[in-house]
Amino acid sequence: MPLHALRSAVIATALCLPATAMALPDAAGREAVEGVCAACHGVNLIERSSGYSRDDWQSLTATMIDLSGDPETQAAILDYLAQAFPPNEQRVARPVDGPLTIRFEEWKVPTLGQRSRDPVAAPDGSIWWAGQWHDLLGRLDPATGAMEEFDLPAGARPHSVNIGPDGAAWFTGNGNATIGRLDPETGEITEYPMPIEAARDPHTAEFAPDGALWFSLQGSNMIGRLDPETGEVRLADSPRERSRPYGLKIGADGTVWVACNGANCLLRVDPRTMDVTEIPLPEAGTTVRRLDIDADGIIWWVNSGLGRIGRYDPATGDIQEWDSPSGPRSHPYAIAIFDGAVWYNESGARPDMLVRFEPETETFQSWPIPSGPVHAGILRHMRTTPDGSALLIHQSATNHIARVTVKRDEAMR
Ligand code: HEC
Repeated sequence: MPLHALRSAVIATALCLPATAMALPDAAGREAVEGVCAACHGVNLIERSSGYSRDDWQSLTATMIDLSGDPETQAAILDYLAQAFPPNEQRVARPVDGPLTIRFEEWKVPTLGQRSRDPVAAPDGSIWWAGQWHDLLGRLDPATGAMEEFDLPAGARPHSVNIGPDGAAWFTGNGNATIGRLDPETGEITEYPMPIEAARDPHTAEFAPDGALWFSLQGSNMIGRLDPETGEVRLADSPRERSRPYGLKIGADGTVWVACNGANCLLRVDPRTMDVTEIPLPEAGTTVRRLDIDADGIIWWVNSGLGRIGRYDPATGDIQEWDSPSGPRSHPYAIAIFDGAVWYNESGARPDMLVRFEPETETFQSWPIPSGPVHAGILRHMRTTPDGSALLIHQSATNHIARVTVKRDEAMR
């Protein structure tokens, strides 16, 4: 039986089995793949991948696990993957050409399989990231490429990292219900536990102009505020059930804006009273991973559920949406205002595309996000550097963080 037929047969049978038994197509090397690759994640990620040549499977898996010490197992795995999962078009992206040229500079972070994410620039130019699956924070000096990793308390599972007004790296302990502070000078870590058990998963955080740290708690359906001076944590429930508060940004006036990853809404938090107001978005099926705020106070958000981007004007209540080039299943995810335009990614497509949307002309341009020689993985959070000169991105599958800059002719300036 040819492999693809075998694969459909296996998938058909697998439908009757529990999820854990979802089987890969049977062929030599399958056990090795199931044994080695399922240590960190389900084999469904392999099945949903864009498929690769043997060389590219080698490059890709080398960003997750070092198999060079066991060449026989490595060969069995690569032979199997190349045969069972050659390049496919199941989630193919629809790139859009355009006039702008951009540059990607990439760094591969040291500890493999850490799910590196959420790079953020410190005032000294260093770039910090969170290694969510390995309980670590990392720091990169982009000038030299030197990197350092700091171990966090076991189980912290840092979802994100921010640099505080005090110069420390503040992280959300998504796994152990804390906010943490890492002093980069001493390596000392202070943890601020959530005051109630129902608040279990700090997620994405931002510092407000007054120094308070605001954060979302996705599963707990809450918004939190930490006073770094006193360590006091205050919490507010989202008014919308299972809204799954996710991305969070703070406007120039201190208003806190939060994306609903579980419902068709945005949330607005009054920083003084902590009152949370729901802004319903028009269509059922809408879910919003993240948002950002432009210089005019307009809220730009990704409609991850329906494959669009949206604009909300808090002054008029106007809401507008545009279809993302790669379609309804493109799952736009991270978003940031950068270089006078709206940038986001299409995480449901392969390659994961970095998209630029120009509000004045309502036009798109997009680029595949590289991870060394391959395209793989998901960009989950992106932020502009404090001086506005670069956009920091990452690919959580391949241990890569990257810096994006726009290339302009001097004459065009
Ligand atoms: C040490 C942990 C670890 C091991 C072992 C590991 N991976 Fe991964 N892999 C990751 C992480 C982290 C991601 C990203 C998951 C996410 O972003 O949710 C990932 C994602 C993937 C993806 C999805 C890429 C995409 O485009 O979305 C594929 C395919 C993949 N891994 C293949 C493999 C294969 C094949 C093996 C075995 C050789 C393997 N992985 C072993 C950590 C690991």
